[in-house]
Amino acid sequence: MTVIDVERVRRSFPALDSDLARFDGPGGSLVPREVADAVAAAMTAGMCQRGSTSGPERLTEATTLGARSALAGLLGADPGGLVFGRSMTALTFDLARTLAADWGPGDEVVVTRLDHDANIRPWVIAAERAGATVRWLGFDPTTTELDDVAAVLSERTRLVAVTAASNLFGTRPDVSAIASAAHDAGALVHVDAVHLVPHAPVDLARLGADLLTCSPYKFFGPHLGVLAADPTLLELLLPDKLLPATDDVPERFELGTLPYELLAGVTAAVDFIAAIGGMPAVEAHEADLLARLLDGLDDLPHVRVHGSPASRTPTLLLHVDGVEPRAVFEHLAANDVLVPAGTFYAIEASRHAGLGDIGGVRAGLSPYTTVDEVDRLLDGLGELTSFGR
Ligand SMILES: Cc1ncc(COP(=O)(O)O)c(C=O)c1O
Repeated sequence: MTVIDVERVRRSFPALDSDLARFDGPGGSLVPREVADAVAAAMTAGMCQRGSTSGPERLTEATTLGARSALAGLLGADPGGLVFGRSMTALTFDLARTLAADWGPGDEVVVTRLDHDANIRPWVIAAERAGATVRWLGFDPTTTELDDVAAVLSERTRLVAVTAASNLFGTRPDVSAIASAAHDAGALVHVDAVHLVPHAPVDLARLGADLLTCSPYKFFGPHLGVLAADPTLLELLLPDKLLPATDDVPERFELGTLPYELLAGVTAAVDFIAAIGGMPAVEAHEADLLARLLDGLDDLPHVRVHGSPASRTPTLLLHVDGVEPRAVFEHLAANDVLVPAGTFYAIEASRHAGLGDIGGVRAGLSPYTTVDEVDRLLDGLGELTSFGR
C-alpha cells in the first residue's frame, strides 16, 4: 500500500508555514496550493455559461462534468446523480422540503442524537410542517454507539437520516446494517458523510445510502456542498425550481448558476487525494497517528476521551479533569497547538452525552499531521494536570 510522505504533503500547504500544529481539520481542512491555483486559473479562464457552441461554453461544460465525475469516483456514485450546492446544510434543507411534499400525518422520519444538526433539524422541521412524526434514535453515552434502529422503524417510516461518522466523537455507526433495516421497512436512507469522506474510502452502494451528502472543504476543496444519489431516484423528486431552468437531473436540483471556479477546485482536491496515495493511504496514516495519540492519552489519567466506539475516525473529543474545554483550547493555542472547543453543531450529541451546550475539546488528525505534532498535543495536555487549581 502507498504510504503518505507527510513532509512532501505538507509542502503543498502554504498555511503550514508556521509553528501552529493544526488539529482543527474536522472544522475544515487546509487547502493545498494545487487547489487554490485551480480555482484562480478557472476564474480567469473566461468561463460564462455551460453549452456546446463556443469555446468558453465548452470549457464551462467540461469543468462542471469534470467535477461531477471526480466526485463520483471518490464516492462510488453515478456522475449523473451528483448535485452541487452552497453547503451540505443548504442541500439538506432543500432535499427535506422536496421529500416532505409527499409526507403526511402518520408518516414517520428517523433522526439520530449522534448526528450533526445539519442532518437533524432540516428533517425535523420538514416533518413537523408535514404533520409527520419524528422518531429519535439515541446512543449509549459511554461508548457513543447508536441504539438498535429496529426499535424506531415501522411500516410508516419514510426516511432514516444517519451519520456515517460523528464529527464530535468520531463514531462510525454500522450504516449498511441500518440502511438494510430501513430498506426492509420501505424507508429511504440519507447519510451524512461530511465527516467520513475526509478519512476513509466511501462507496455509496456499499453504505446502502439512497442519498449521501458531503462537503469538499473538509477534504482539501473549496466551500460548497455535494449530494450524491442514484439519478433514477432523483428523477422521481420534484424540487422547487425556476420556470426557465432545466428539468434535467441533476441540474434541476442546482439553484442558479454553479460556482464553476469552485468546481475546478473540487476536481483538483480529488486529484490531490489521488496524488498523495488515495484514501487507503490517508486512512493508514491517520490510523498510525491515532494509535500513538490514544497510547499517549492512556498515560494522562486527567484526560478523558469520550466514547469507545468499535469503529471510528481519527477525531477525539477530550475532557481535562477540572479544566473547562475553552480554557484547554486557549492554553494549547497559546502553545501553538490548535484543538478547538465546543459542540461543533452536534448539539444533540453533546447534550445526550451529558456535555450540555459546552461539549469538549476536539482533536482531529489529517493527512498533514505529523508524529511530532501528536507529541506536542500530548505534551500540552500533560501540562494541564495542575492547571487552574
Ligand atoms: C458531520 C457534519 N455534517 C454536516 C456538516 C455541515 O456541513 P456544511 O458546512 O457543508 O453545511 C458538518 C460541518 O461541520 C459536519 O461536520
